[in-house]
Amino acid sequence: MGINIAIDGPAGAGKSTVAKIVSAELGYIYVDTGALYRTIALYITENNISDENIPMEIKKAAVSLKFADGTQRVFLSDRDVTGLIRTPEISMEASRTSAIPAIREYLFGTQQKISRENNVIMDGRDIGTVVLPEADVKIFLTATPEERANRRYKELSEKSDCPGYEEILRDIIERDYNDMNRPVAPLKQAHDAVLVDSTNLTLREVVDTIIKIINQKTGR
Ligand code: DC
Repeated sequence: MGINIAIDGPAGAGKSTVAKIVSAELGYIYVDTGALYRTIALYITENNISDENIPMEIKKAAVSLKFADGTQRVFLSDRDVTGLIRTPEISMEASRTSAIPAIREYLFGTQQKISRENNVIMDGRDIGTVVLPEADVKIFLTATPEERANRRYKELSEKSDCPGYEEILRDIIERDYNDMNRPVAPLKQAHDAVLVDSTNLTLREVVDTIIKIINQKTGR
């Protein structure tokens, strides 16, 4: 069993940016579980699968993760879909379909297997509560919806088809609502997770805060 670090929090809180840096600095594998839900959403969209057929049909989706130089790539069969899953449509479809229990059950085993075999920093919505309830360290990383929308807007504003700030904020609030209010494995802070609010912190400050928490809890 490897050392397991769980980082949960709402969309746009900076989980993946922070987790990538922390895992590189501490020598862990970084696992972005949102990419798994996004890949299933892509599979459902591309194959026009109706909700009632999802439990049967997702068994045919060969989703796998590969790691090279600490970077995660996600595959559907042998097709690398790492870039394709990063659209606003797939974000919303992943948020919607991730409430379907059959999808969560299907991805549970994939996530557990990786964490058994490696030292991982895994980010998502239910890692500390459901996937790795025994994780050595649990962080709940958050920021206000306005600050998260602001960051996303800055990140996207270099692209020609950038949505407006208001639209980004609306999407974030809608995804928060979906993720926090689904009956199965909703987004919530585990009782033993440490809350980190990044609203007024720089990226480096968030990284340092989290490394400190990890070192304290793992006795390094
Ligand atoms: O982290 P992300 O934005 O890439 O995740 C996309 C969606 O997947 C998110 O809206 C909710 C879902 N998700 C989930 O339900 N559980 C996880 N552990 C990770 C993501």
